[in-house]
Amino acid sequence: MKQEQILVLGATGKTGRRVADRLTSMGKNVRLGSRSASPAFDWHDPQGWADVLKGISKVYITFQPDLAVPAALEAITAFTKEAVAAGVQQLVILSGRGEAEAQRCEEIVMSSGIDWTVVRCDWFSQNFSESFFIEPILSGHLAVPRTETRVPYVDVDDIADVVVAALTEAGHTGKVHELTGPDLLTFHDVVNEISRATGREIQLHPISLEEYAAMLEEHGVPEDYRWLINYLFTYVLDGRNSGTTKGVEQVLGRKAKSFAQYAVETAATGVWTN
Ligand SMILES: NC(=O)c1ccc[n+]([C@@H]2O[C@H](COP(=O)([O-])OP(=O)(O)OC[C@H]3O[C@@H](n4cnc5c(N)ncnc54)[C@H](OP(=O)(O)O)[C@@H]3O)[C@@H](O)[C@H]2O)c1
Repeated sequence: MKQEQILVLGATGKTGRRVADRLTSMGKNVRLGSRSASPAFDWHDPQGWADVLKGISKVYITFQPDLAVPAALEAITAFTKEAVAAGVQQLVILSGRGEAEAQRCEEIVMSSGIDWTVVRCDWFSQNFSESFFIEPILSGHLAVPRTETRVPYVDVDDIADVVVAALTEAGHTGKVHELTGPDLLTFHDVVNEISRATGREIQLHPISLEEYAAMLEEHGVPEDYRWLINYLFTYVLDGRNSGTTKGVEQVLGRKAKSFAQYAVETAATGVWTN
């Protein structure tokens, strides 16, 4: 019998790369969804989706840049329709916690008529080591608004483990797994943990949303990303997510990784000091 093939979108990104690696080491047949793969997958090129979906039975969907952006609903609707038409039997979608727009995209997947699982996550710890906050951490100065908001950062290794469980084990169909880390941290706490783990001094500079927007523009951040960052800081970091869940523990039967542990492990890689 032919082995099932699993498509991982965002396969070079923070969660996708880890999900693809785990599935491959389990001996699963994985197709990488990337603009540099062959066939290529690009959210901006729906013409190319049919080739990427050929022979696929399960898909891990990660949207770029975020399910909250206005274009996401149309793209997720079109992709879901095409996946179902291509014979896909299961969709697992990565979503953001506390984002009404993302939840509208989840609903498209939930009403697809095929098996679905939503993995709804809080902010990733790895935003400080593999994404937009690494540069300020390296410079020793993190200037952000909302420095008092408490966030339950979740580790992407835990997210990847949950996604792989949803794709390979029974019992996840029709479920929303809401994932957070085990503790709530302000930006002050984050900077303290990373300073402690690296032995480097990192200063936090509280600024207003307006100052932050102007700073991003000055640094040449593209307009759509500035829109997204403004949205995240205005709505998602307003304190609505200042509570933890037991999602990781419920799915994996073990505790979620703490930010302190993430900081120690990440410091040991040298990414914050090289
Ligand atoms: N970061 C967070 O804290 C957080 C929290 C909750 C939810 N999320 C969700 O996570 C998702 C991804 O976020 P991320 O920050 O983790 O991503 P990421 O690591 O930055 O990954 C980017 C990935 O997206 C791919 N990509 C970029 N543009 C693309 C396009 N036009 N078409 C197809 N693929 C494209 C890249 O692949 P190639 O360059 O190889 O094509 C890369 O694999 C978003 O939907 C967001 O809502 C993020």
